[in-house]
Amino acid sequence: MPGLGTPVADLRSRLKSLECRACGAEVDFRHPVGVCPACGHALLARYDLADLDGRAWEREVAARPPTLWRYRELLPLQRSENVVTLGEGLSPLLPLAEAEAAPGVRLLLKDDGGLPTGSFKARGMSVAVSRARELGLKELFVPSAGNAGVALAAYGARGGLPVRVYLPEQTPEPMKEGCRSYGARVVELPGTLREVGAAARNAERDSGAFDLSTLREPYRAEGKKTMGLEIFEQCGRAGLPDAIVYPTGGGTGLIGMYRAFEELRSLGLLDRAPRLYAVQSEGCAPVVRALRDGTPGIAPWEEPRSIAPGLLVPAPFAGERILEAIRGSRGGGTTVSDRAVVDAMERLARRHGISVSPEGAAPYAALGALLREGAIRSGETVLLYNTGSGLPFSPAALRRAVGAPAG
Ligand SMILES: Cc1ncc(COP(=O)(O)O)c(C=O)c1O
Ligand SMILES: [Zn+2]
Repeated sequence: MPGLGTPVADLRSRLKSLECRACGAEVDFRHPVGVCPACGHALLARYDLADLDGRAWEREVAARPPTLWRYRELLPLQRSENVVTLGEGLSPLLPLAEAEAAPGVRLLLKDDGGLPTGSFKARGMSVAVSRARELGLKELFVPSAGNAGVALAAYGARGGLPVRVYLPEQTPEPMKEGCRSYGARVVELPGTLREVGAAARNAERDSGAFDLSTLREPYRAEGKKTMGLEIFEQCGRAGLPDAIVYPTGGGTGLIGMYRAFEELRSLGLLDRAPRLYAVQSEGCAPVVRALRDGTPGIAPWEEPRSIAPGLLVPAPFAGERILEAIRGSRGGGTTVSDRAVVDAMERLARRHGISVSPEGAAPYAALGALLREGAIRSGETVLLYNTGSGLPFSPAALRRAVGAPAG
């Protein structure tokens, strides 16, 4: 089994327990577990960082190989032989020229489009599949908008675990083919991720396969945490952006980055964390609506529509945790039209040479609104997160879908 390259007997993970922030339950991490056994909410990992010297750790990390496993003390894996890796992590952080919509704002783009399987989902699946191996799980399934399925299919293949992926019928063909090419079984179902997820969990109820649905198991979010750890490492304490703008569906990215900054703060490495902003589609914006209405939870969005498959999440599972990440960072959220997303994809490709997914174009498309709404200001540094490659998408088909003239 391919591991980290250099054998490490002990990964020195500081994982202490799994915690439910809804009811306060603490759960033993040594057994497979999905949601909180007491109340059914999401479980998140907790680390014992009291005797980890932050400055020394930072120096050690800098000398390690360039994958997300360099942050091993803050990851849940116990033993290196269980690590299932394709070299994920340390994606480029690129400066962008000023955007007309946001004069005076310094722009950075964190580009996860080049990660294994073409999206940030590699981060979560590498960690979750590694933990699945470590815990002795034998079969895995996931309902997915596409990218998570492709990533699980690849990491499952590499880790020797059979995978079933449940996809909405309207998922782009290259993603369905991507899953199959890694040997996963693909089940296509009508509806959005909400209906597909419910049907998948129903079909798998007695199968013995483990459910890797977003935030219904604790370890994908740990992989996503490395987005925040990398931003910290790449920017340096003094150069951290004022704001991070992130395309939000199920919310694992925001929850993960928020936790990264919390942990860095408790290591004494950070005073001021970036504000986190969710960008959603006008036709499916349950998180942004909850922020605008000031509600404690997130109500399902009726008749969801979005050109970006990953943003088509009408009822995110861990709503309270998503709102906690945004409000706790003093951030916010805004929406973008499908047409603006397609225009932003084209602009990022043609002007900046960066192929982004529709989701990844949404933060760029949102810049004007964020400035008008006073969320970001001239003179600030703003990091736009590109979560996936644009290569599986046809620009001409996207332009037709939003009624725009051929480009
Ligand atoms: C490319 C892309 N961006 C963003 C998202 C939303 O992810 P999150 O769960 O972090 O909100 C997804 C989820 O499917 C995705 O595939
Ligand atoms: Zn609970």
